[in-house]
Amino acid sequence: MALSGSSPATDGWSSRTAFVLAAIGSAVGLGNLVRFPAEAGANGGGAFVLFYIFCVILIGLPVLLSETLIGRHGQSSAPESVRKVAEQSGASQKWEWVAGLGVLSGFLVLGFYGVIGGWVLDYIWLFMKDLLATGISGPAFQGVPVEEVEGFFPAMISNGPVTVICNTLFLLVTFAFVVRGVSGGIEKAAVWLMPSFFVLLVGITIFGAFRGAFSESVAYLFTFEPEKLTGPVMLAAVGQAFFSLSLGMAGMITYGAYVGRNVNLAGTSAIIGAADTSVALIAGVCIFPIVFAAGLAPNGGLGLMFQTLPHAFQEMPGGSLIGLAFFVMVGFAALTSSIALMEVPTAWLIDKFRLARPVAAVIVLLGGGVLGALSALSMGVLADFHPLGFIPMFEGLGVLDTLDTLTGKLLMPIGAILVAVFVGWVADRRLVDLENGLSGVLHLFFLFLVRFACPLALIAILLAGIFPDLLV
Ligand code: PHE
Repeated sequence: MALSGSSPATDGWSSRTAFVLAAIGSAVGLGNLVRFPAEAGANGGGAFVLFYIFCVILIGLPVLLSETLIGRHGQSSAPESVRKVAEQSGASQKWEWVAGLGVLSGFLVLGFYGVIGGWVLDYIWLFMKDLLATGISGPAFQGVPVEEVEGFFPAMISNGPVTVICNTLFLLVTFAFVVRGVSGGIEKAAVWLMPSFFVLLVGITIFGAFRGAFSESVAYLFTFEPEKLTGPVMLAAVGQAFFSLSLGMAGMITYGAYVGRNVNLAGTSAIIGAADTSVALIAGVCIFPIVFAAGLAPNGGLGLMFQTLPHAFQEMPGGSLIGLAFFVMVGFAALTSSIALMEVPTAWLIDKFRLARPVAAVIVLLGGGVLGALSALSMGVLADFHPLGFIPMFEGLGVLDTLDTLTGKLLMPIGAILVAVFVGWVADRRLVDLENGLSGVLHLFFLFLVRFACPLALIAILLAGIFPDLLV
């Protein structure tokens, strides 16, 4: 039985740095900047945040390593990589469905991610117009009443033509990179946009720190109140960890396939996890002071970024420029993530049906565009359409929220359980040992986590989240 990798993918990352930046680019996105502060706010702050960090370290990192090692060994699209590992381990090739489910989740996330990316584009446009009118040192939206500034958001999301056009534009930009392939397109975006992202993030954070209310934000984010750690809060935290690390949806299996054999996957996974978590925490520490300094409440939900912050930028000198920089930064992060989301199904189509990359990417673009349009309209004309409303978890949710809940709270955790079981119990031990780059105690700890801790903890959290009454 051959345990070395099969024929290498024809296109791949040109260096380890390119892989690290692309993987961080995939991980750092709207999940860190929009979803994390929103979920932290909606789930009571500290308890959520601390449990989130716990999940990243003990569940996220082992699953991240498992996914990249499957990809690197298989050197193919996600389902094909899983199939190869299963085959070489003497296991059923049906395991490829684990990654098939991941490809489906990736596509479903793309179906709403682009809508939020489109909102960001619209806000970039809004702040650009404002900057031209106000000049560099002025606060944003001078003389515009607060209600009107807060009203931009509901007016935008319920405007069907605007949201559909912005979603389409965002997907087209994503497509422009994916169609050029791994080293020619995807990597270029990561290598240019991620460093720019970090410069903007540090700048805005320092600015936030000088605005005061820093300690208030830190207290809000890190005060642990055990009674707030309910089943649904735990499920929200674990779902957020997967969403943020791009796990349980074949994303890291796909990116892992383009990695050279000389890269140490354990070390790289740790860097990716640390970068992603730091950005989420910095985003929290950066957003909440601006909100608190303006005397506003840290209400959860998307309103935090799209309503509360613009209002806060209205209160500050230079707010127009800072606001523009902020949304450009969010746009960069969103783009490198949606590139990963589009690449997952594209790579699968290329592999499965032997399609040329441009054809595969166009198919995903069209599919994502249609699903995205439905999500975009779910805040407007389709507001009363609740596709899975007959299931309690999805009651009253429109298309966008249904896709978000279905992927984040069900498909990704289930995908991650299956990946952990696959690597822990099904894959040949020699193959796992060869790829993971760990040794000694850490290696044993990794095996313990993927075999026992991750699957069991995830099953418990899923049950507690879906049936909160079981706990009482
Ligand atoms: N991790 C990305 C974010 O935080 C979202 C994503 C999920 C991207 C899965 C790729 C794959 O925004």
